[in-house]
Amino acid sequence: MAISDTTMAGKICLVTGATAGIGEVTARELARRGATVVVVGRSQERCEATVEAIRRDTGNDAVEFLRADLSSQEEVRRLAKEFLDRHDRLDVLINNAGALFATRRESVDGIEMTFALNHLAYFLLTNLLLDTIKASAPARIVNIASDAHEMVKDFDFDDPQGRSRYRRLGADGQSKLAIARYTFLAPFAHPALVQYAQSKLANLLFTYELAGRLEGTGVTVNAVHPGFVATNFTAGNGLFGWFMRRWASLLAMSPENGAKTSIYLATSPEVDGVTGQYFAKQKPIASSPASRDESAARRLWQLSEELTGLSASRKDDAGDEHRGTRPGR
Ligand SMILES: NC(=O)c1ccc[n+]([C@@H]2O[C@H](COP(=O)([O-])OP(=O)(O)OC[C@H]3O[C@@H](n4cnc5c(N)ncnc54)[C@H](OP(=O)(O)O)[C@@H]3O)[C@@H](O)[C@H]2O)c1
Repeated sequence: MAISDTTMAGKICLVTGATAGIGEVTARELARRGATVVVVGRSQERCEATVEAIRRDTGNDAVEFLRADLSSQEEVRRLAKEFLDRHDRLDVLINNAGALFATRRESVDGIEMTFALNHLAYFLLTNLLLDTIKASAPARIVNIASDAHEMVKDFDFDDPQGRSRYRRLGADGQSKLAIARYTFLAPFAHPALVQYAQSKLANLLFTYELAGRLEGTGVTVNAVHPGFVATNFTAGNGLFGWFMRRWASLLAMSPENGAKTSIYLATSPEVDGVTGQYFAKQKPIASSPASRDESAARRLWQLSEELTGLSASRKDDAGDEHRGTRPGR
């Protein structure tokens, strides 16, 4: 199926992780179709270079960037505020930024990095922008998940932050010998991959729960498996990451092909009104039974609210409203 050439003129799209790989191609193709595109990345330099390259390639000057390290909740909140200060609508939100961490690391908020970046950032950013997305309806949210979610049987509520999982890499979770053993003998059992699979299962549970909550609002939310794509993914992970990227360079598809389903879901009239689905190769497919567990989805939502302080900030906002002041963004 060809991806749509539908014009996106007049639409505002925000793409996270748009300075490389699948996100960069997605941002460029949205700009090519005439959208105003907000590129989000961590580094000022990479953001500037990406914006310049997309403007040059597409002739569309309505491409801008907002810098944020999405593993930090404070930066996600700042990003949402800066976006809302500049724009009063959001037609397409693409939650794409993600990574894998070969050793256990914690974010500035003390949360395991894979869970913080791959799931909690999607959850927090979406919720902070949700009122504006609803006011822009018909609008779309696209969450980049992965078929890696099938590697795990259930979402691990006993250890969402992988404490016991990473301990298999030695007492401090960083034994070089254990990492080498997993890398060469059992890469698919590597604790980092299992933790990554948990985060991608979380993307699906979040997508389906959000679709239910958005029923009747005109906002759709769908998840994507992009395929196995040769990108910078796994960079910064020493030997394990190098091994995974060598493997990808032999077997994986180009970022241009890997971005097709994200672009399709962001632009195609064929998916007008389609929500709560998981797509690969521009077609809806079945995700794992664990991803369809409604009680797990509700439980994850609650846990995510607690870990991001979202429920507390909502109560504060409600209090402000009650007292007759406008809730802060
Ligand atoms: N590649 C695959 O085979 C594959 C398969 C299935 C699913 N996926 C999913 O596809 C998505 C995109 O992956 P990709 O392969 O395109 O990876 P990539 O080439 O490594 O690109 C990742 C993007 O995310 C950004 N990013 C990373 N950490 C960030 C942080 N802390 N804060 C803000 N931005 C951050 C990076 O920006 P900077 O580094 O410039 O800051 C970059 O723009 C991910 O969600 C991944 O899980 C990929």
